[in-house]
Amino acid sequence: MQLRLDKYLADMGVGTRSEAKQYIRRKQVTVNGFLPKGPEQKVVPGRDEIVFEGKQLCYLEYEYFMLNKPKNCVSAVTDQYHKTVIDFITEKSRRDLFPVGRLDLDTEGLMLITNDGSLAHELLAPGKHVPKTYYAKVEGRVTDEDVRKFANGLEIGEKKLTLPAELRILFSDAGDGLSLKEPISEIELTITEGKFHQVKRMFEAVGKHVTYLKRISIGELNLDHSLHPGEYRRLTETEIKLLKNQRKTVVGKEKP
Ligand code: URA
Repeated sequence: MQLRLDKYLADMGVGTRSEAKQYIRRKQVTVNGFLPKGPEQKVVPGRDEIVFEGKQLCYLEYEYFMLNKPKNCVSAVTDQYHKTVIDFITEKSRRDLFPVGRLDLDTEGLMLITNDGSLAHELLAPGKHVPKTYYAKVEGRVTDEDVRKFANGLEIGEKKLTLPAELRILFSDAGDGLSLKEPISEIELTITEGKFHQVKRMFEAVGKHVTYLKRISIGELNLDHSLHPGEYRRLTETEIKLLKNQRKTVVGKEKP
């Protein structure tokens, strides 16, 4: 792959495309030890040695990070009012990173951040049905009846019922019948769609309210629980392969 030197520099986060052009003109960049002819000079990442202000650059075509998204940050690249998930990724080479999908402002947990558009498409396209698992605290007593309702599909104001979802009760406050306190349940829920506020709306459909929500997995990729909210790390090669080999699955069944 060949690309223009100014694009290479911009991709590597050295500056914008026009800043990169200026650095080249001001002789702050060398290619294989020589001053380049101009910003349009073609370079081959991995073969040519590009040095900016004495530091050799290492070209990365794709970057993959997992962030434990904290509350009060938006799943966007830029935002006027809030910190974005991209703002947390301080050690990055690429300037074209974006979050794969969205979590609500008050939802925490696994956020995948990359510049690999085709992987993002594989994970997000509605027809792919990649499972996503959430941990939630719910006001109210989640019951086996709810488990059945989630498995059968719920009416949440969309054209169709939700697809079968796997609800697992981790803890459901049986209450003593005397206490005035609202019972609280803890659950895990696996869904294979990504409708707006889907988890919260599914619980509202059975008369319950989600008070805390955290995504813990996307397909085979699990949140690294050693990451505190706001912390991130690069995906390992194994994790990247797991995501790329993501098989189409529906909850409880595997498609051929
Ligand atoms: N479902 C929700 O209700 N909110 C999220 O952030 C993700 C899934």
